[in-house]
Amino acid sequence: MQNIIRRSFVKSALASAVVVAVGSSLHRSALAADEFLDVKFAKDPRNLQAGLETAHTPSMTVEKVDSKGVAYGKTPAGDFYRVSVQARHEATKEHHIYGIALYLNGELVAEHTMNQARAEASLPAVSFVQRLKTGDDLLAVSICNLHGKWGNRATV
Ligand SMILES: [Fe+2]
Repeated sequence: MQNIIRRSFVKSALASAVVVAVGSSLHRSALAADEFLDVKFAKDPRNLQAGLETAHTPSMTVEKVDSKGVAYGKTPAGDFYRVSVQARHEATKEHHIYGIALYLNGELVAEHTMNQARAEASLPAVSFVQRLKTGDDLLAVSICNLHGKWGNRATV
């Protein structure tokens, strides 16, 4: 009897572990799997140095949008902003940006990936529409196949 209870407990524990593992992969992406601890930043984002900093540091613009043009159904009301992110980086098979991620107050909220098999098809320029408020901290990250992750911050 005790053996059956123990087996049942082990099965439940394993099932819970699987649910936790699946659950965590649902809200984390492949791009952000190792979070943003390895992101490189320009020494002075307002005065980028020629070379790696200029080519990889994403620029970010934030503008308020009329949410009625975007929101649908039961989307709660709020202040929405278009966050446009771009890097001035080459797009070749050998060297390209394949992802851009956006973090809000330290949490991944959106990302865009490019097909690396067609690296020349996309330029690293995307926009996201986000619910934001004054004081929110934005971090944009561009991911280069050769030079890794590069970030830039903005405060709303
Ligand atoms: Fe690069």
